[in-house]
Amino acid sequence: MASLLLNGPQNVNFIGGITPSGLGFVGSNLHVSCFSSKNIVPCHNRDQNSRILAPRCSLSSARPASQPRFIQHKKEAFWFYRFLSIVYDHIINPGHWTEDMRDEALEPADLYDRRMTVVDVGGGTGFTTLGIVKHVDAKNVTILDQSPHQLAKAKQKKPLKECKIIEGDAEDLPFPTDYADRYVSAGSIEYWPDPQRGIKEAYRVLKIGGKACIIGPVYPTFWLSRFFADVWMLFPKEEEYIEWFKKAGFKDVKLKRIGPKWYRGVRRHGLIMGCSVTGVKPLSGDSPLQLGPKAEEIEKPVNPLVFLMRFILGAMAATYFILVPIYMWLKDQIVPKGMPI
Ligand SMILES: C[S@@+](CC[C@H](N)C(=O)[O-])C[C@H]1O[C@@H](n2cnc3c(N)ncnc32)[C@H](O)[C@@H]1O
Repeated sequence: MASLLLNGPQNVNFIGGITPSGLGFVGSNLHVSCFSSKNIVPCHNRDQNSRILAPRCSLSSARPASQPRFIQHKKEAFWFYRFLSIVYDHIINPGHWTEDMRDEALEPADLYDRRMTVVDVGGGTGFTTLGIVKHVDAKNVTILDQSPHQLAKAKQKKPLKECKIIEGDAEDLPFPTDYADRYVSAGSIEYWPDPQRGIKEAYRVLKIGGKACIIGPVYPTFWLSRFFADVWMLFPKEEEYIEWFKKAGFKDVKLKRIGPKWYRGVRRHGLIMGCSVTGVKPLSGDSPLQLGPKAEEIEKPVNPLVFLMRFILGAMAATYFILVPIYMWLKDQIVPKGMPI
């Protein structure tokens, strides 16, 4: 029954003519092709020069990027991390965000010079920053997060001792325009009430020629996963990331798919860390995109009953997305290697 529930159709549609680069999953060895809405687009793995699996992963009816999802709200995200930060590195990351995935996702950020100025936005406990300081001197890296509890964990990590660590909001960054060579943000966009505003900020703080790299979730196609994704937090579609980057003014926008090895390329349940999107800032100065004032009303009192409903649904969704990687891991153990799962 559980298997029936969790096994959505494994279609391979890819819409909107967007062809993500670097479709290789860490450890994926499945071979099919992916399709655009009009034409079949064979997808090639750059390293192996082979066609690889590109299952349908973000095809669904349209829904707004910002809707009242639990924890896509700054206050709720703050309280969520007040408690989650205690176990974050040990319980959450192993199921969704492993070291090999992190290194794979940071590769398009092009961190080739130790002297680069890097900002890690929504840096949390510094898990991604540990990947950044392999390539860049820690003294040139700033970790920004809205959660002091998450940052307290980052402060305890020895390789991050020389990083600057500051509290702040991804949608209103405390850095001057044209400041950084690289903007990195991993696993944070799903909490931003206005992701387009956050990406516009990424553009502003970068120097001309600088690169933004946003690593984040992808939207599921399987109905039950979609239901839980929608009540919980933002799981953008791949084409939404591309659109936000382009609207903010970025050029050379690319999307690389990532995922845990043991998923064998399966994307129908969505992924909490499912892609790494990069774009280059072509001109100095602010983003050409004009946005009105922030719509989010953080201080507005929330009806306790509504909050309770949101909390219960959110907790169910979080539990679901903790169980999915375990279910996929078990399948990976049971189904012979080379077979689709
Ligand atoms: C899933 S954690 C990711 C942490 C880290 N980047 C990593 O790779 O492990 C998401 C982080 O985003 C932070 N966050 C959420 N909304 C934010 C916002 N508006 N501004 C800054 N940080 C935010 C949370 O506090 C949390 O630490």
